[in-house]
Amino acid sequence: MLKNISEIKNPVARSVTTAGVAFSAVTIISSLVIGVVNPKGQSAHKFGVYASLIGTGCGILVGLVACSKITEAESLQNSSEGQESNPGSHIWQDWRKFVVVRKVRESKEIISFYLKPEDNGDLPNFQPGQFLTIKLDIPGEAKPVIRTYSLSDYSDSNEYYRLSIKREPMPKGLDVMPGIASNFMHDRVQEGSVILAKPPSGKFVLDVHHSLPAVLISNGVGITPMLSMAKACSHLNPNRPLWFLHGARDGRFHAFRDEVTAIAQQNPNIHVHFRYSRPLPEDAGHYHSVGYIDVALIKELVGQEAEFFLCGSPPFMQSIREGLQEWGIPEGQVFFESFSKGGKAASESQPPATAIGEETKEAEIVFAKSNKTLTWREGDGTILEFAEANNLNPAYSCRMGICLTCMCGLKAGEVVYEEPPTGTPDEGSVLICISKPKAPKVILDL
Ligand SMILES: Cc1cc2nc3c(=O)[nH]c(=O)nc-3n(C[C@H](O)[C@H](O)[C@H](O)COP(=O)(O)OP(=O)(O)OC[C@H]3O[C@@H](n4cnc5c(N)ncnc54)[C@H](O)[C@@H]3O)c2cc1C
Ligand code: FES
Repeated sequence: MLKNISEIKNPVARSVTTAGVAFSAVTIISSLVIGVVNPKGQSAHKFGVYASLIGTGCGILVGLVACSKITEAESLQNSSEGQESNPGSHIWQDWRKFVVVRKVRESKEIISFYLKPEDNGDLPNFQPGQFLTIKLDIPGEAKPVIRTYSLSDYSDSNEYYRLSIKREPMPKGLDVMPGIASNFMHDRVQEGSVILAKPPSGKFVLDVHHSLPAVLISNGVGITPMLSMAKACSHLNPNRPLWFLHGARDGRFHAFRDEVTAIAQQNPNIHVHFRYSRPLPEDAGHYHSVGYIDVALIKELVGQEAEFFLCGSPPFMQSIREGLQEWGIPEGQVFFESFSKGGKAASESQPPATAIGEETKEAEIVFAKSNKTLTWREGDGTILEFAEANNLNPAYSCRMGICLTCMCGLKAGEVVYEEPPTGTPDEGSVLICISKPKAPKVILDL
């Protein structure tokens, strides 16, 4: 009851409701008591009247103070989880079962999967740009396949999560298997299938409440986080100017064209530009220019101070990042996410926190927060694998040095990366999914 009342936003209405409830409750109880006891004197009836008045007064106070404390506590909890308020939502732990309730083709290569929790529980909100980590049991694979996919939709109702997945073919000229998870999702996962997912996560997020204009730049399947960003901004801060620039080969490969156009039609502060590299005759009227998205186009369209968000193929990201740097855009205003390895700007200014090179043969690893000191030996794999084998449970998603989920403070010692990380870890931190100890003693904030 108190919780229902606490959801009334207006403090006067909340207070009047609580007072009414308290008055009714005390009056009914006093009447019952007087009726049962049947006292002779007037004092008992006076007591009933006073009790009702005191109850009403307490109700007013509870409505004003206690309920607002509950609301405050709830909103604090939500904001600490980085969420917009969504009463009743909760972050689940580890893996949760989701049912694919809809499967929709978005383009020649991309299919969307709408997911609802099998337990019919609440879905916590997420920050626009975040991803889900999913786990698939794929026949023929020795262990479950874990991949990360950006959440490609955003709505206030939060009835489902949507992932939009591009089928990864085998690379040209290489005799290797096509992409394991994406092909499985396209070919074998149907409406009614159940997949496991971890809670939304990721640091490539748009703070919709910033005042600087936001420029969302993507190509190919890199459009997925941009969609949730554009939709969230349009819902939560429609006054923020936003540019949505997207590159595709032609209309067949252009997912979400109508969805993006519809967002812009509802909000005059959202400007859309689609650029096709090889448009087909039937694409006429559906794109704005021909070529590849470049900084010349961005300057021409935006031409003012802004925050830039990039997601797309490695060469695309590299060229745009370099162009923005040459244009003089401060690094702090450029945010990017890679879906695959590679794609570092040639002039990467932040040096890697650790060296690339030979790992040591044996090392003592101190997991400081877990209060465990263990001996790592050659063959124990990455620090993440070693930690897992020793019953520690560090956070991870991509396991490829891209998403930064496994980032961890390095308090002492040195580690080596198996390969250069694609994501840029914070200074003094390392990505344990792709690193091994280099120094004989390594202390991690884990
Ligand atoms: C933060 C984040 C968000 C993401 N969001 C999305 C999203 O919204 N949508 C989306 O579609 N993807 C997204 N991805 C990418 C996604 O996680 C997967 O990496 C992608 O689907 C490929 O997985 P796969 O299992 O199909 O391919 P994999 O099996 O991992 O293979 C990848 C590619 O490598 C090739 N390959 C296989 N073996 C070799 C070999 N020996 N040598 C060379 N090449 C080889 C395959 O043919 C394939 O082309 C995201 C990634 C990250 C990190
Ligand atoms: S798990 Fe993604 S960077 Fe380590």
